[in-house]
This record gives sequence, structure tokens and C-alpha cells, in this order.
Amino acid sequence: MNSHPIEFYIKTKKDWDKKSSVRSSDETYDLKLSDSYLNDDTGLQFSTFCPILNHEKLKFLDKRQRKYVTALQLLEFLIKTTKFEVDHVNRVANSLALGKYKFDIPKVLKRDALQMYTDEAYHAYFSQKINDQIMDYLNVKDDLMPYVVKFFDKVDNIKSKFDKKYDYLSDLSTVIIAETMICQDISDEMKGIVYEPIRKMFKEHLHDEFFHANLFKTIFKILWPQLSSEEKEIMGQNLLDAMNILAEPRTDIYFYSLSKIGFSYEIISKCVDDIYNNDEWKVEKAKKRMSHPLKLLDRCGVFEIQSIKKKFEHRGFI
Ligand SMILES: [Fe+2]
Ligand SMILES: [Fe+2]
Repeated sequence: MNSHPIEFYIKTKKDWDKKSSVRSSDETYDLKLSDSYLNDDTGLQFSTFCPILNHEKLKFLDKRQRKYVTALQLLEFLIKTTKFEVDHVNRVANSLALGKYKFDIPKVLKRDALQMYTDEAYHAYFSQKINDQIMDYLNVKDDLMPYVVKFFDKVDNIKSKFDKKYDYLSDLSTVIIAETMICQDISDEMKGIVYEPIRKMFKEHLHDEFFHANLFKTIFKILWPQLSSEEKEIMGQNLLDAMNILAEPRTDIYFYSLSKIGFSYEIISKCVDDIYNNDEWKVEKAKKRMSHPLKLLDRCGVFEIQSIKKKFEHRGFI
């Protein structure tokens, strides 16, 4: 096994052990959402990263309505985070740590998979805690899970293209892509958030995810050369499918928030279509969102396999 990725990893993981938020944070995530925070006229939003609000049909929304749309966007992010960390990332962390994969994985990476496991459990916990408080504050009584479940169905569907014995490659692909692009994702979502406890949550999460990205980059560098040609073909397709799903703008929640404001399904669909159904979002922004995993795949020689390279070229990722 090439020792270089491990040496590099050990050098760059620095003080993760000491500084991960689960060990070092003094934040309790007990929000004090005063009435004025949501109802004031300052125009504060939960995030300024909400491109759909630029649509001409939504431009007349008042500040309170805009705040409501961005708050629901935050809830969607939190619900997905909680589920993804526990159901997907930690399932893969478990398999890595306990040696359930057939790959030769250095001890330090197995041990750090357990460290990541504790980080992700903490992220799931504080995401859920903030989610519950904002739900109460906004008086949202509906179950929002049906609005995020489509995303998880698509993720689960990745493995259906191949024999069940290759499911592990799809699980690994989804988590490797997610963990190497999540820093970009969090940076986008936290844009414009000024309410300190929520900002702190994003900052703590972001800090931990830098280390996770490093861990998963190293795992991929070590794992890829151990795959057979057939496994490489399958994983190449899995990686592309995972990128397609994770690069998609999250628009499902607008069908809830905007319908509560009074818009019909048809109008919401038109707004989503007008804003996101174009090359700018489907190709340019998607490629930018995937820049870290794409660089990783390139460095590991994934695109040296012509059949895989063609698929990524066809998608516009390379
Ligand atoms: Fe996380
Ligand atoms: Fe993570």
C-alpha cells in the first residue's frame, strides 16, 4: 500500500482530536428566539442564499414572508443533516471502523472513523435541537419529512442499478461525495445568517467537516487502487449518480413554505423551473459545488478509465 496518503493525512489532521466541537464546544443550543427576531422590520433573514426569492412573482413578498421562506429552508437543511449523518455517514463510519469492508484500511483511519462517528452524532443532535426550537417558534405542526424524503429515495436508488453485492460501493460513494463537498454546502447555507447561536452551529459544523473531508479524501486514495476493474466501473457510475443528486438545488421545501403563503403548486413549479432549470444551475453551479470531489477523483486517476471519463464529460462535470 502506498504510504504517502497516510503520512500526509497524519500531518494534516493536526488537532482534530482536541478541537472537534463535541469535545470543545460550550454551546448549549438553547435558542432565545424572541418575537422581535422574526417579526421585526430589519429584514433579517435566516439565510440570504435563497435564489428563488429573486423570481419576479416572489419579489413582492414582505420581509416577514421572506423570513418565513428562509426559515423553512433552514429547517429542511437541519432535517436532512440529522438523517444523513446518522443513517448514511455513520453507517459507513461503522463499516470502516469495524473492518466490514474487504479493503485494507490502516488502523489510524479506522480509529478516526470512530472519531468522526462521535462528531456526526453531535451534529445530528444539535441540528435536531435547533430544528425543534424553530419548528415550535414558527408553529409548524406539519411533518416536514415527506418534503425531504424524495432526496433520500434518490440516494437509496443509486444502488439499484447494480447487483446487491455491490451496495457497499454505492454507500461509500454517496458518503465520500457528501463529505468532500459539505464545506461548500454549509458555507452557502450560512450566508447572511446573523443570529449568533445558529451561526455558531454552522461554524462548529464547518470546522469539523474540514477534518472529515480530509479523512474521506485519504480513504478514497487508499481504497480506489484496491478495486477490481469491474468495481471501478460500478463505483465510477455510483460517484457520478451521487454527485448528480448532491449537486441539485434543494427546492422541495418551497412547495411547503410558498404554499403556506398562498401560492399554488403550478406557480411554485414555475418559479422553481424558471430559476433552476437552466445550464447555469445544472452545469456551472453544479460543477462548482462538486469542485472538491471532482479534483479528488481526478488526482486518484478515476478519469483515466475512458468509460467513466466519458460519462463525466457528458454530464458537463469535466
Ligand atoms: Fe457532520
Ligand atoms: Fe462529516
